[in-house]
Formats: sequence, C-alpha cells, structure tokens
Amino acid sequence: MAEQPSSYLPQASAIAVEAGKLLMPYFERRVGFEYKGGVDLVTEADTASEQLIASRLRAAWPGHDIIGEEGTRDTHGGSMRWYVDPLDGTTNFAHGYPVFCVSICLEREGELIVGVIYDPTRDELFAAAKGSGATLNQRPIHVSNTATLSESILGTGFPSFKRHKNPNIYFYHQLTLTSHGIRRAGSAALDLANVAAGRYDGYWEFNLNPWDTTAGVLLVQEAGGTVTCFDGSPWRTDSKETLASNTCIHEELIHCFREIFAGRNLKELPALISHRSQHPCG
Ligand code: IPD
Ligand code: CA
Ligand code: CA
Repeated sequence: MAEQPSSYLPQASAIAVEAGKLLMPYFERRVGFEYKGGVDLVTEADTASEQLIASRLRAAWPGHDIIGEEGTRDTHGGSMRWYVDPLDGTTNFAHGYPVFCVSICLEREGELIVGVIYDPTRDELFAAAKGSGATLNQRPIHVSNTATLSESILGTGFPSFKRHKNPNIYFYHQLTLTSHGIRRAGSAALDLANVAAGRYDGYWEFNLNPWDTTAGVLLVQEAGGTVTCFDGSPWRTDSKETLASNTCIHEELIHCFREIFAGRNLKELPALISHRSQHPCG
C-alpha cells in the first residue's frame, strides 16, 4: 500500500530547515553572484543548498527522482519525484533583502503530495501534505475570506530571464487600480505560501518553473485556495501561468485576466506629458 503523504513531512521539513539555516551565513556576509543569463543571478549559496538537499533526499529515498533548479537531475523513471528550489529569491538574497526561502515538493504519479517552504529569516516553516491541510510552524493555516477583488491585496512577480518578453506590466497596472495593491516581493514560493496563510488574497505570475511553484501550489490548495491557469483551466506542473487565490475572488480574477488579454475596459496609463512640465529636464 502507498505511504500516507503526511509520512514524508517530518523528514522533508527537517531537510528544508537545515538548508535554510545553511543559507543564513552566506546571506549575512553578502556573497557575490554570477549571471546564469539575462539578470538571472546565482550564488554559491544556491549551489551549496541544492547539494545538501539532494544528498539528504538521496540518503532518505534512494529510488526517488530529484529535479533541482541548479542542475540536479536524478531520474530513475519511477513514480516519485522531488522538485527542489534551494534558494527562491536569489536576487533579494544577493542584494541583502531578507525575502527568500527553500522550497521542496514531492510528486507521486503526477500528483503533488508534500510541499514544504522554509523562510530562514523569519524562522517560518510552511508545510502541506495532500489531504491533511496546511500548517505554518505546525499550526493550521487557511486562505483569507476577502470576498471581492476591490478589497484584496495581491502578489505577483517578474522574471529575471527574457524579461523584455514578459507582458506582466499590463496586468500589474490594471490590477493595481482594481485592488488594495500589489506586492512584488521577489520569491514566488513565499508569495504562494502567503496566499495559503491568508496574508495575500491572490497571486499570479507568468513563466514559472515547477521548482518555484509546486510546494506553494499544494500549500494553497490544502489551505482552501484555488490554483488555475489565467483562463481558469486546470493548473499543471508544466503550466506557464499560475493564478492562485483564496477561492472567493478567483472568478473575478479570471474575468479580469480575460478583459486585460482582450484589451477591453482597460484603465489608461496617465499621460506623462502632464507631469513633464513639473520636471523640466531639457
Ligand atoms: C525567482 C523568484 C521570483 C520570480 C522569478 C523566479 P529564483 O526565482 O521566485 O519571485 O519572480 O520568476 O525565477 O531565481 O530566485 O529562484
Ligand atoms: Ca525560484
Ligand atoms: Ca532558485
């Protein structure tokens, strides 16, 4: 008989916490970074964290597959696969801005069954197992009950790779004017964890990878939220659109996305010309 999803949680949580604690001394001494492409940064902390997580996962579950952002590809062709983001929020980390985390998720036969996200700067461990709910530092969490988009606070993110091709600024602009405001904190995994914890009412982003999303998606779902693509179709690990919410405002968000894609009822950007006279720059 298959293991209960929750049986993986203690070890997965311990690994995420150990990796998060490993990140802190690197953060405190402001390690340097390299470019992976575009303005996509990587530091020695990303690599050290991934090595630690992969070695712990291999020792605990030798037959499982592991897909890590920094290159780990253990593929045995089995039904169990771990997605690992050893440091989500590297740009923040490299600049000394304390918003980053470790994100680890286990998928079994295509279904997300365990998700853990650890924020070492706040010592916050978000954890979820399929069918068992979601917790923050072992206390149950639930999405918010904000009923309308106009009363909501939302999160989003922008990619560091091929950012000139990303249309998100249009969505950022429209949703800023339709809600209490948008936060762009710089860690997709923490953004999703914050939806699960009821701190954000919704979150969206284009072009994420499974190591960014999977743990957070399971957290949102287990906390009573909804995750789909922008048109409301089912979200999958390889989806290039992630729309998460507290469920109450999901239909409104989908409607809003439809209108923005169609260019209907858009709120116009203010004309710069009217501000220019106050800022003579020659
Ligand atoms: C990034 C962060 C960021 C998101 C980017 C991701 P990384 O992950 O999650 O919030 O906007 O799209 O690539 O590179 O810091 O692991
Ligand atoms: Ca990431
Ligand atoms: Ca990363």
